[in-house]
Amino acid sequence: MKKKENITAKSSNLLYQIENHFAEIAPRYRKLRTTDMEPILFIEKELSGMDGLHGADIGCGAGRYSLRLAKQLGKKCHLLYCIDKSEHMLIQLKNFFVEHSIKHIKILHSDAHKVPLETDSLDFIVSFNAVHHFDMPNFLKETARVLKSKSRLFIYTRLKNQNERNVWGIHFPNFTDKETRLYELDELEHMIENTLNMNLKSIHFFEYKRSSTLARLEEQAREYHYSTFRLFSKKKFNSSLETFKKNIIENYNVNNVTWNDYNVLLVIET
Ligand SMILES: C[S@@+](CC[C@H](N)C(=O)[O-])C[C@H]1O[C@@H](n2cnc3c(N)ncnc32)[C@H](O)[C@@H]1O
Repeated sequence: MKKKENITAKSSNLLYQIENHFAEIAPRYRKLRTTDMEPILFIEKELSGMDGLHGADIGCGAGRYSLRLAKQLGKKCHLLYCIDKSEHMLIQLKNFFVEHSIKHIKILHSDAHKVPLETDSLDFIVSFNAVHHFDMPNFLKETARVLKSKSRLFIYTRLKNQNERNVWGIHFPNFTDKETRLYELDELEHMIENTLNMNLKSIHFFEYKRSSTLARLEEQAREYHYSTFRLFSKKKFNSSLETFKKNIIENYNVNNVTWNDYNVLLVIET
C-alpha cells in the first residue's frame, strides 16, 4: 500500500513539475524549438477535397503548428479549436494569431482527456509533440467521441527509438533513460486497435537533416527546450551537459554540428 502511495505521489509530483515547466517556458517556447512544414503539408493533402472543416489542435502549446496549419488550410478550415491545459501557452498562442491576423480559431483552456466539444462535431483533430504527456487510452477515447464518422485524427510525435537517434539521444548522457514517456510504434498501434471506432489508416516517417552550432545546442538544453531536461537533477544535468559538449567537440566542427531528427505521423480514421 505504502509503495503504491509513493508511486502516486511521485507521478503527481512529476505532473506538477511538467505543468510548471510549460508555464515557465511558454514565452520562449516557439523560439527554442524547430518547426517543420512537412507534416502540415501532408495533413493538408489528406484533407484535400473537403470543405467547411471544423478541427482541433490538442496540446497546441504556443501555437507554432496550429498557426501553420490554419494558414495552410486557409478558407477550407472554418474553425480551428486550439486546446491546451496550460493557460500560459494559450496566452502566447493568442498573441501569435493576432500578430498574423488569423481569426478563425477558438481557444479552449481544457484537458485533452475531456474537451468541451460536442460528440460527432469535428472533421479532424491534430496533436503535435504532445501525446507523450497524455493518458493515451483516454485521449483516444475522447477524440473518437468528438470526431464525426469518417474523420481523421493525426498524431505527430517522436518514438522512443527515434529519440535515441537524435543528437541528444546519441551524445547527452542519460537523455534516453530519463525520457520514459515516449512510445514505440507497436504500443501506439495497440492502443489505437483497442479504441472503439478507430482504425489506423497509415503511418508516415519523417527524417530531417539538421545542422546547428554547439553554442545554440547548449542554449537550448539550458533553457529546457525538451521537458526531458527537467527530469534531471541540477547536478546530473550539469555533468551530462559537460560530457555532451566534450562529445560534440570531439566529433564535429562546433560551428557545424550535423545530425538527423526523426518523427512519425499516424493517420487514424474514425
Ligand atoms: C511539448 S508541448 C507541444 C506543444 C505544441 N503542440 C508544439 O508542438 O509546439 C506539449 C503541450 O501539451 C500540453 N499538455 C500536456 N498535457 C496536457 C493535457 N492533459 N491536456 C491538454 N494539454 C496538455 C502542454 O501544456 C504543452 O503545451
